[in-house]
Parts: sequence; C-alpha cells; structure tokens
Amino acid sequence: MSIYRPEQEPDAAPSGVDATVAPALVFPPLTHQRLENCAFAAWYPKFRSLSIKSRIIPLPEDFIAYLHADGVFIPGQSGITMALSDSESESDGEDDAISDMDRIKALQEATSRHAPNDDSSDDDDDNNEDEETEEETSLPYFPSLEKEIEQAIEELGSEVFPKLNWSSPRDASWIATTNTLKCHNAADIFLLLKSSDFVAHDLAHAYEDCSDEAGGVVGAGVRVRPERLDLVLRKWFDLAPSMEFRCFVRDHRLVGISQRDMTYYEFLKGIQQELEDKIVGFFEDKIHGHFPDSDYTFDVYITRNRERIYLIDFNPFAQKTDALLFEWEELLLTQERFPLRLLASEAAGQHMQQPFAFNRYPSDVTDLSNGQTVAEFAEAFYKKVQTAAT
Ligand SMILES: Nc1ncnc2c1ncn2[C@@H]1O[C@H](COP(=O)(O)OP(=O)(O)OP(=O)(O)O)[C@@H](O)[C@H]1O
Ligand SMILES: [Mg+2]
Repeated sequence: MSIYRPEQEPDAAPSGVDATVAPALVFPPLTHQRLENCAFAAWYPKFRSLSIKSRIIPLPEDFIAYLHADGVFIPGQSGITMALSDSESESDGEDDAISDMDRIKALQEATSRHAPNDDSSDDDDDNNEDEETEEETSLPYFPSLEKEIEQAIEELGSEVFPKLNWSSPRDASWIATTNTLKCHNAADIFLLLKSSDFVAHDLAHAYEDCSDEAGGVVGAGVRVRPERLDLVLRKWFDLAPSMEFRCFVRDHRLVGISQRDMTYYEFLKGIQQELEDKIVGFFEDKIHGHFPDSDYTFDVYITRNRERIYLIDFNPFAQKTDALLFEWEELLLTQERFPLRLLASEAAGQHMQQPFAFNRYPSDVTDLSNGQTVAEFAEAFYKKVQTAAT
C-alpha cells in the first residue's frame, strides 16, 4: 500500500482558505475486513493463476520481534551487528532523515569494526567494549526460517521480490547493492525488511485507519497487528514500469485506470485504447464478482508484447492508497468510467510527486564520510555480509 502519501490535514488549510467550504471526502468505511481482503494471503490463493508465482511463509514470533527491534543486523551472519539507541530510533518527519543517516553511519561503523577475517585488527580489547560483546552474543539466528526462505527462492528461480501482508520494502531498495528489491538469499531479504518503514507499517500500524471494531467484535477496538504476518516471496519478474496500471473499483464498477509509473512514455498514447480494452476485459472476466468487496483497487501488468495481463496486487479503496493520476474526489463522485489516464507530457511527469519524496533519505547521505556514496557503502556492506556467511 502507498502508506506514506501525505494526507490532507483537515485543520491545515492554508491561510485565507475557508476549510469548511470543501466537504471532507466520504470514502467507503475502511473496515478491518476490507483491509484484510487485500492482504496477500487472502487474495492470492483465489487469483493464483492470474498472478506471479509466489510462496507465502508465515513468520515466527521471534522473527517478528527481531523486525520490531531497533537497529539493523543480519541474523545468522556472524560478525555484523549494529544497534541504535532507543531514543533515536522512533521518530517522524525530519527526524526520520536523521535516523536514516545514523543508521547508515552505524552500519558503516559496524562493518568496519567487525570486518570478517580481519585477524590483524588492532582491537583495543581492554576498555569499554563489553556492550558490543553482549550485542554479538545475542545475535538472532533463525535457521529454520532461513532454510524455508532459501528453499522457496530456489523453487522460484533463484531471484525473488519480497513483501509482507500488504507492503513491499520499496522505500528501502536504495540499501540493496542492486538498488532494486531483487533478492537472492535470506540476508538480502532481512536487510530490506529491517530497513523499510513500509514494512514497519505492516507490522504495527496497518489497521490505524480502520474505522470499525476489530474483527467485528464490539468493544474490541482497532487491531494492533495482523494475527499472522507472512513473508511473501514472488518470482522476480523484469517488469517494464510503463506497462503497470492501477485500476479503481467503486461499488463493483471499474471507474478509473491510471498509469502507475509517474514517467512520461510517449509510446503509450498510440496503444491507449488497446490497453484500456484489455484491462476492462480482464476486470470483467477475471476480477469482477470474484473479489469479496465492492470497493477496492487492483494493479495489473501487461506484458511488453501485450499478450498477457498479470494481476500484481490489491489495495483498499482508501486515501492511504495512491490514486496516482486521479484525485480521489473524481473517483468517489463519478458515475462513469474515466478513460485510461496517462501522463500527457514529460513536463506533466515532473509535476507529479515522485515516490517516497517525503520519506526518502536525505541527500547528504549520498555523500557519507569516507567519500562513499550509499551505493558504494551498501555494496561494501553487502560484500562483508556475504564474506561473513562463507
Ligand atoms: N515479482 C516481481 N518482480 C519484480 N518486481 C515486482 C514484482 N512484483 C512487484 N514488483 C514491482 O514492485 C512494485 C510494487 O509491488 P507491490 O504492488 O506488490 O508492492 P506494494 O508495496 O503493495 O506497492 P503499493 O504500495 O504501490 O501498493 C510494482 O509496481 C512492481 O514494479
Ligand atoms: Mg500494494
């Protein structure tokens, strides 16, 4: 889900604007059930044949606790550990940027402190290093989960895309050596999961916008986290971003389709009608009446030769989902289906919000001490993890 889209604060109207004039948008209520319908394990079994081959691995509680814990360290890979103090780990807004920076610096320190095979390291082992020793001895280790993951990766063709119940760690791809979410082993996955705010949202905040009682039980309040957290591994697919589309379904009717990648692709204009017809046909034949809700969004991918459509994901019809080239108001109020919406020009693309613009790491992180860029640092870090594992 696109959970970090800045919401319009009702009480944050610019001065001179009468906030009472524009009525608040009325979305269909986001119930616990609605949200759960969009969890991967809820929809995938039913739509398996339309989607990308995937495996669902329920996460054990000790691993969930590890994901919750502060700091980034990779289980099972001895020698690399890092922890941030509690006080600097949880913050929002500007402070997030600071904590990202700290995280990287600390990772950098950790990798140099614990360089594997570095027998010659002149550790000043006398004084104040007890804390680190303690950290190292308590390194988490999840051998059976790692085994399950490695097995799934093998079954899925050795390259996978990871996500949890709803969200992928898209905001953390910069930390991976490939700058993508392509994972080859458990360490790749753990690093991405630990570094992602989107994943943290699934862990502890997914239900915060729900407006009903948890599980329909009166007085139960808002559920804190899903009963079961899953690691979803999907076969890696080299998707052309130009061919990804988000579809909006209101009251069982497809009301809008938007290009998903906010880049201008000139060639799309020439095939706009064909794409729209294909997506509408796909909705009518395969989705309509099969998804257990009246209001939702779904994402599709059309192959480059335009012969096949893949279902990528479902999201709630809610403000927390990115409406891309639409305004939610249009989608809420329309009685008819809008034509497929594409970016009209390169200039229009520049006006669109870039993904994660509001929680991206600060630009000065790209110029870390030691003259390393993030990519160089991440690569060095990754190599050390790999070496430590062998
Ligand atoms: N199997 C895959 N292989 C490679 N890339 C993928 C794969 N699945 C998804 N992607 C890419 O990752 C993006 C995000 O995927 P997905 O929709 O599953 O994540 P999400 O966190 O739910 O995103 P959103 O918040 O937009 O709903 C897709 O737009 C696509 O570009
Ligand atoms: Mg999604």
